[in-house]
Amino acid sequence: MKRRDFIKLAALGSAAALGDFVFPGILKGKSARTEINPNFKPDVELELRAMQDRVQIFSGPSTKVWRYWVKPLKGPENAVKNLSDTYLGPILRLERGQKVRVIFHNDIPDKTIVHWHGLHVPEKDDGHPRFVINKGEKYVYEFEVNNRAGTYWFHPHPHGRTGPQVYYGLAGLFIISDEEEKNLNLPSGKYDIPIVIQDRSFESKNQLLYLTNRMQKMWGFLGDQIMVNGRPNYTLELGTATYRLRLLNGSNSRIYKLAWSDGTLLTVIATDGGLLEKPVTKNYLMLGPAERVDLWLDLSGRKVGDELVLKSLQFEGAGMGMMDGRGGMMGGGMMRGRRGGMMGNRGGMEGRQGGMMGGAMGGGMVGSFSGETEFEIMRVKITHRDDARYTLPESLSTIKFYKPEDAINYRNPRTFVFAMMHMQPTINGRTFQMTKVVSDEVVRLNTTEMWKFVNSRTGIEMPHPVHVHDVQFQIVERTPSDIGWDSIKDGFVDNGWKDTVLLMPGMEAKVIMSFKDYTGLYLYHCHNLEHEDMGMMRNFLIKG
Ligand code: C2O
Ligand code: CU
Ligand code: CU
Repeated sequence: MKRRDFIKLAALGSAAALGDFVFPGILKGKSARTEINPNFKPDVELELRAMQDRVQIFSGPSTKVWRYWVKPLKGPENAVKNLSDTYLGPILRLERGQKVRVIFHNDIPDKTIVHWHGLHVPEKDDGHPRFVINKGEKYVYEFEVNNRAGTYWFHPHPHGRTGPQVYYGLAGLFIISDEEEKNLNLPSGKYDIPIVIQDRSFESKNQLLYLTNRMQKMWGFLGDQIMVNGRPNYTLELGTATYRLRLLNGSNSRIYKLAWSDGTLLTVIATDGGLLEKPVTKNYLMLGPAERVDLWLDLSGRKVGDELVLKSLQFEGAGMGMMDGRGGMMGGGMMRGRRGGMMGNRGGMEGRQGGMMGGAMGGGMVGSFSGETEFEIMRVKITHRDDARYTLPESLSTIKFYKPEDAINYRNPRTFVFAMMHMQPTINGRTFQMTKVVSDEVVRLNTTEMWKFVNSRTGIEMPHPVHVHDVQFQIVERTPSDIGWDSIKDGFVDNGWKDTVLLMPGMEAKVIMSFKDYTGLYLYHCHNLEHEDMGMMRNFLIKG
C-alpha cells in the first residue's frame, strides 16, 4: 500500500468510532496480480488449473467433478503430484524458503480464486474473494514459503461459492518441509501418507448431490458417504513399519471424533501449523473442518493379516439445538431417502439410533449430524512384513509459547461472537462485506494480540470452526462447551500452532497471534463452508 493510502485510512479510522468505514476502493480488484513479475525468480513454478472432469469413483457411470490439475514448469520433480483416481487436487511439496510461482487458470464455469490455507503470504497471494477471476482468466501467485514444516492445504475462496466448489472437488494438500524436520528423520516417501477425510452424497447415477435449501445450508452440508483421499471404502495396505499419517478434515461441515478401533492410542506429532514440541497421545481426537493432525502409527508389533480401523465415535454437541431435531427438518432428502424422519439427540427427542442399515454404496451410515453415530473412516490392512523403522523422537521441535502478557490487549482481548441469529450466521452481529472493515477489525503490523472467539448461546447452538488467515496462532485458553462436554473434552490438542479452532456450542477460546511482514486485508471466518458462504466471514485489516 502506498503512503497516501495510509493517510487516507488513518483519517477514516478516526471517524470509525461513529460506525463502519469503508476500506478504500483502491484495493478492490485492481491490485490483483494477473501477469508474472519478471524480477521474481521462482524455485518452483507451476501452472494450476481448476477444471471440469469426470472421475471413476464407483462402478457404473463416472462422476462429474471439478478438480485442480497441475503442470510443473520448474523445480524439483517431487514438488508436484497429480492424483488421477480421485477428484482431489495435486499434492504440492515445498520447502520452507523456496520461492513459488503458481499461474492459476480458471476453466470452470464459475468465478473462483485459490487460497493457501494456513500460509503466511502477502495479501495478493492470499486468495481473498475480491480477487476472483472468471472462466478463461488467470491469476498469478508469487510468494516465498515462510511457514514451518507441516500439512497445509489449498482450496477456492469465492464469496458465497466456496462450499460447492470444495464439494465438487477443488482442494489439495500443500506440504511443507524444513531443515528442522529433516533432521528428525521422520517417516518419508511411502511411509508419509496423506489422509484427506471428506463426506459426500451421491445420487443413483453416481453424481454428487449438494444441498439446495436454506435450512440444510444453515446446518452445513453433511454427506452420507465418507471419502478418504477422494475414494469411498478406503483401505490402506501397509507393512509392519512405522508411518506418518497426515490427516486433513477437508469436509464442508462434518466434525470427526477420531479413534483407532482396537483402542490403540492416537499419537499426535503435529497440528495445523506443524510439529508439536513432543508427541501427545490421545484416546480420541476432535477434528473440525480445515483442521489437521499428523499421526504417528507404529505397526511393527502387528501381524500380517491384522486390520485396524480408523473410526469416528459418537459425541454430543453438534446435533439439534432446538426445534424438532435436525433429521426431522432435513426430512431425509439429502440422505438419498434411505432414512425417514430422524430426530435429533437433543430437545427431549429420542435420537440415537442403533444398527442403521449400511449405505447403498457400502459406505455405512454416518449420521445426519456430526457425532450422531459411530462409523468407519478407513481401514488399515497389514499386508506384508516391512522392517523399515523410524524412531519417534521424544522432542520434535521447540515452540516459543506466548504468555498472555505478550499480547498488547491481553486485559481486553478483541472479542468476536459467532452466532446463528434468525437462521443467519453472524460474527458480532455482522456478515461479510467484500472490502469493508470496522474499527474493531483493524490491527497494527508488528503487534501481538489476543483474540477471544465466543460461540454464542443465543440463537441456534451449533459448532463453529473458527479460522484466521495470514497467521498461525496459539490457543491460550479454551472453556468447556455447554453440551456434551464429557464426550469431547479429551479430544483437543491445543499446545501447538493452529490456524483453526473448533468451537463447540457455548465454548470460548482465547488465542494469541502476531501480525508480521505483510499489511493488507485478510479474512477470519467460520470454516463450516456453508456458514462461510452465508456470510459468517469478515475482513480484518493489518495496518502498517
Ligand atoms: Cu481454508 Cu479462508 O480458508
Ligand atoms: Cu485459510
Ligand atoms: Cu459456523
